[in-house]
Parts: sequence; structure tokens; C-alpha cells
Amino acid sequence: MTARYDVQDGIAVVTMDTPPVNSLGIGNRRFIAASIARASDDPSVKAIVLTGHGRAFCGGADIREFNRPEATMAPDLIDVINLIERCDKPVVAAIHSIVMGGGLELAMGCHYRVVQRGTMVSLPEVRIGILPGASGTQRLPRLLGLEMALNMIVTGDTVMSEVLAELPGQKLFDKFVERDVVAEAVTFARGIAERRPLPRVRDLRVEHPAPEAYLQFARNMVAASSKNYPAPLRCLDCVAQSTRMGFDAALAYEREAVTELVWTKESAALRHAFFGERAASKIPDVPEDTPKRDIKTVGVIGAGTMGGGISMNFLNAGIPVKILEMKQEALDRGLATIKKNYESQVKRGKLKQDKYDQRMALLSTTLSYDDLKDCDLIIEAVFEELGVKEKVFNELDRVAKPGAILASNTSTLDVDKIAAFTKRPQDVVGMHFFSPANVMKLLEVVRGKHTAKDVLATVMAIGKKIKKTAVVSGVCDGFIGNRMIEQYSRQAGFLLDEGATPQQVDKAVEKFGFAMGPFRMGDLAGNDIGWAIRKRRASERADMKYSRTADKLCELGRFGQKTGAGWYDYQAGKRDAIPSDLVTKMIEDHRKELGITPRKISDEEIVQRLVYALVNEGAHILEDGIASKAGDIDMVYLTGYGFPIFRGGPMHYAGQVGLYNVAESMKRFAKNPRDDAAFWQPAALIQKLVGEGKSFD
Ligand code: NAI
Repeated sequence: MTARYDVQDGIAVVTMDTPPVNSLGIGNRRFIAASIARASDDPSVKAIVLTGHGRAFCGGADIREFNRPEATMAPDLIDVINLIERCDKPVVAAIHSIVMGGGLELAMGCHYRVVQRGTMVSLPEVRIGILPGASGTQRLPRLLGLEMALNMIVTGDTVMSEVLAELPGQKLFDKFVERDVVAEAVTFARGIAERRPLPRVRDLRVEHPAPEAYLQFARNMVAASSKNYPAPLRCLDCVAQSTRMGFDAALAYEREAVTELVWTKESAALRHAFFGERAASKIPDVPEDTPKRDIKTVGVIGAGTMGGGISMNFLNAGIPVKILEMKQEALDRGLATIKKNYESQVKRGKLKQDKYDQRMALLSTTLSYDDLKDCDLIIEAVFEELGVKEKVFNELDRVAKPGAILASNTSTLDVDKIAAFTKRPQDVVGMHFFSPANVMKLLEVVRGKHTAKDVLATVMAIGKKIKKTAVVSGVCDGFIGNRMIEQYSRQAGFLLDEGATPQQVDKAVEKFGFAMGPFRMGDLAGNDIGWAIRKRRASERADMKYSRTADKLCELGRFGQKTGAGWYDYQAGKRDAIPSDLVTKMIEDHRKELGITPRKISDEEIVQRLVYALVNEGAHILEDGIASKAGDIDMVYLTGYGFPIFRGGPMHYAGQVGLYNVAESMKRFAKNPRDDAAFWQPAALIQKLVGEGKSFD
């Protein structure tokens, strides 16, 4: 079907049809405008019903038009809405499934709205750092009241139509129907066809007993929860104008605010993340129509920290999981942890009892590999030792059905070596989850030398199904994320040697926007993990220079929260990091041993050395073809490493600072005798981009 204009017994039914969600690209805007004009001019038409074919009424702006000339081609959305509102025949929106952003603004421009149960309603613009700039901030308060409208606009949250329809005094929906929304809207249109004057949202008043007092209260709340983001407060400013100014003056205000927001760094970063997420699922040499393998049941080997969390992802998505362990005790322990996790969600009201029961019913356990013979995907999460992985993959090769995907959750081992333990390396892939695996968004999909394209396509699709951000990485030590974090941690160590304290480093990085500084993160993850890696490195890459402070900390048994002490002290049962005199002394003694006179290090230097270390290693990762684009690296850092979203990820941030400036700082750091001069040579890719005046984007 394509967009349609039909007249049914005096009612013109205008059906948008731009899959998947009838977004408002130039083609659709022109179609709506032409249809309204046609219906106006046709004396046989008494009223108009506007609807969308397929999966949505309308999902809003066409994101493919962003930054393209089509976005500004006439008519723009405001023109279309004005045309509808001024039409002298009633226009009824027949709304179903999804009505979002510009789609909701379009519906609010209609004279009447009929909605079907189960419709998702939202103005999500704030999530990309802007605001609903086609009259959304003025129309929604008039239809839903100041408080509800403000809430939806400032958070971008989705609310179901049945919830909104129940709100006392709501004017958003004139009629709520269970099904057949178009037929219902046609009947409705017939009923009101002669009624005049036509109701126009612009003529309504925003009702509230004490708007200024409420707005002041709301301003304090919004300011406190959005400190690094300008958009939520600007949303509030615009909504406030709906109670203060006339409609047209407020529209001009809204327009100015949205234009201003589009140019903020924060909005650029949020849009980068938004597009980056979609772009990450596209792999250059794996076409989108690559056939995918069917994944109906999943096997998980190992019921430890990762195996349990990994299983939960699939159970949550309604996919049956069978977990295998070596011993019954290990299975019992793993199962108990999964149960405990779900039960705490039930207790906190985050999960309904029946959902919990459904999920647990999808879970089974076994001690025998033969029970995995029907699994379509098997994910291994056993001890991080190549010998153990070899045994597991030998067994999998023996029992798995032909075409089953065999995945490893290894974080450091060579996926190609693991694939070589089987006679079917084309079916082997890395699926690197992050801890806690049921919570963290990131999934690094590690593509081995022989991994088949349909295996990759399938794993990317399943990643989406379990609501992960899946990013493809080539095989190298640490893949994308951990390979970069090693350089960041190394800098953190050097900074301590030179004169900084763990608290100072953490604070500077947290002020920059990271969820957690490197030392608090080490204490959370376990400092012994890095220790093990450094020990291995000592034999593999003797040229790599490290600060010894972290080793000394581990020699004291201070592995972090799990041992009650790490870079900080911890009180039993609490997670607050308390600065430790013992650690301070340990660092000072270490400096004395090295003959270092501590110097005062600025927060700016701390942030630059840590973040630019990520950038330089990220550039090498691109040069080596481990990541196929800079945006993928940013997605890894935004979803797996707590990099501040409003800065768009390390590579995007470097572009905002200017690669020339970044490279100059690197050269300066290279002159620091305590640092690693070789590392700080700007990557060839950076030098090339500086020469061309470009950034990674
Ligand atoms: P864990 O020690 O909590 O769990 C491993 C489980 O595997 C244990 O329950 C053990 O009984 C079982 N197991 C060991 N050998 C087995 C065998 N031959 N057959 C069946 N079961 C066996 O370890 P964790 O932390 O869950 O790590 C598992 C894997 O995930 C490792 O490869 C690790 O590198 C990787 N990983 C760990 C992350 C973490 O933060 N813990 C993050 C990302 C990956």
C-alpha cells in the first residue's frame, strides 16, 4: 500500500504510508498538505480523517532528514499543522499504535482525536537535547493540563493512551476506542461534520490554580536533575509561556528555543549517541538483508556471575534458557542468585509476580552436554582459562546441532583460538557481556577470523532483542573497551606517582561527567583483575610501562569492595568510598622510593590525560580495523564504561575539543619523563585528520 486519499460517503480518509512509522519526511508532509487542500476544495467532502497505515499513526520527524536539505523544504511541519487547523472542514485524527514527537504535534493540530487502546504517546525530543518545536510545548499543556504536559515534555517519557484517556479533564482524546480506530473515526466524523465553530487547540486556555508557584517548584526539580543538560529547562521555559503569552507569541518563543538548542554541544552529543546506536548495528560487509538463523532456545555454560546475568537477559525476552554446570551445587547456587535477583525486583514493584513465574518457567538446568543438542545458541561463561574453554568447546562441537551458534563470553582470550577448538569456526563468535550482565547495555560482539556473516547478523539481531547495544569488535587483546581502558588506567597510575591522590583523580573525572572515577571503579570491579593482566603483560609486553602502585595495593590484599578495602576503605555492607590514610602513605612511600617530588596536578590535566589516552588508543583501534567506525567506539564507552552521554563518547568529544588541540596536548604529555613518551605520539590517523582539518565523525 502507498499513501491513500479515499472518500467514503462524504468523509475523506487520508492515510499516511511511509514505513516503518509514517515519519514526517518531505514526501509525507507534501502528501498531507495536498490531501487537506483537495478535501477542502471538494464540495462532496464534509469532514476529513487523518491516519497512518501499518505500525504507527506517526512516529514523528524523519531522522534520515536530519542535517539534510529536505528537513527545511516547504512545507515544514508547522505549516502542515497550520493548514489542518485552519481547514474549514473538521479534521479528525485516527490514532493507533504509536504517536510520537512530530506525530503527536500533528494530531494536536487536528480538530478532534480518536484514539485506540494500546497507543504509545510521547514527545521524546528532550532525549536528543531539543524540544518539541512544532507547537508541542503549547498544545500539550492546553490538552492535558500544565503538570502532566510538563512532565511528559521534560522527561520524554511514553504514556499509554488508556492512562491518558482516564485523566480527569483531559482534552487530548475526544473518543477512546478498543479497536477499528479508522472506522470509529469515520463514524465520529460523520457525527460532528456539521458542528461549528471548529474546536482549535490554540483557542484553549491552560488551566491551573497557581501556575507560577507550580512552575517555580518544577524549575527547582528540573534544574536539580538535569545539571549537564540544557534542554529540560528550556522545555520548562517554553511550557511556562503557555500560561503567560498568547499562542503565537509563545510559538515564536518555542521556535527560538529549539533553534538555540539544536546548536548546543549537548544536543550534538545526544544526537550522535542516538544515531550511533542505530549505526552500530550496521556492519560494512554484512548486508542488512543477510538471512538470520532462528534462535528459539539458548544454552548457557557456567552459572557464575556472568552466566546467571546472561541467562536473565534471554528469560526477560521470553526465550527459554538451559544452564549447564559441572556440579549440582554450582547449579543450585546460580539458580538461587537468579531467583534472588528477580525476587528483589518483585519486592520493589519492578516486576509482576506472574511475569516472574513465566520467566522462571523458561529456565532449566543440566549437568549433561547432551541436553544442549537442541539449542540454537550456546554461550560459554566458564573460568577465564584457555584450557577450560578448550574442554567446553570440544564438548560443544560434539553435541551442538549443525548450524548452532557457539559463543564465548571471554573478556581477554583469543576468540580465534577458541574457534579452533571446534571443527566449525564459522559458527563461533564472541559475545562479551558486561557485569552485571542483566543490567549493563553493552554487548561487544567479537568477530573471529572465520565467523560467518549470518552468524554476525544473527547475534546482532538477538542483541537487539535482549535490549543491548551491540557493537562489533575485531579480535585483539581487550577488544575495544578493555583495550582502551588499560591506557586510561595506566595514566591514572602515573598521576598518583606524580602527585595526585585517588580522591583527586576520581573527583576530577566525575566532575567531567563519568559515572565513576578510575579508582572507585577499580574497587568496584576488583583490583585483582588488572593485577592479573599486568602480570601477564610483564612477560608479553615488557616494553609497556606501568606505575607499580596498583600492584602494591594488591600485595596488601586490598582488592576493593569485595575485600572491604581497596584504594578506599569501606564499611561493612556499605559502598561509600572513604579515603584511606594507609593508601595515602603507601603512595607517598612509593614516590620516595622512586625519588619523585610530588607536584600539584590540575583537574584539567587529569581529565585530559585520562580521556585523551582513550582517544589515542581508540584511533589505533580504528587504524587496526578492530572497530569499523569511531561512533562504535563511542557507543562502547557510553553504554559500557559510564562515559558522560552529554559529551557523546571519547571520539566525539575529541572532535568537539578539536583534534588539533588534542594532538598538541598529547605531544606535551610525551615530554613528561614520568609518562610513556612512545604512547603519546598521536596516532597516524589523528595526524592525518588534523592535516585535513577533520574529526573522527
Ligand atoms: P565465575 O567464576 O563467577 O563463574 C564461572 C562459572 O563457570 C562457575 O560457576 C563454574 O562452576 C563454572 N564452570 C567452570 N568450568 C566449567 C566447565 N568446564 N563446565 C561448566 N561450568 C564450568 O566467573 P565469571 O565472572 O562469571 O566469568 C565467566 C566468564 O565471563 C569468564 O570468561 C570471564 O572472563 C568473562 N567475563 C567476566 C566479567 C566479569 O565482570 N566477571 C565480565 C565480562 C566477561
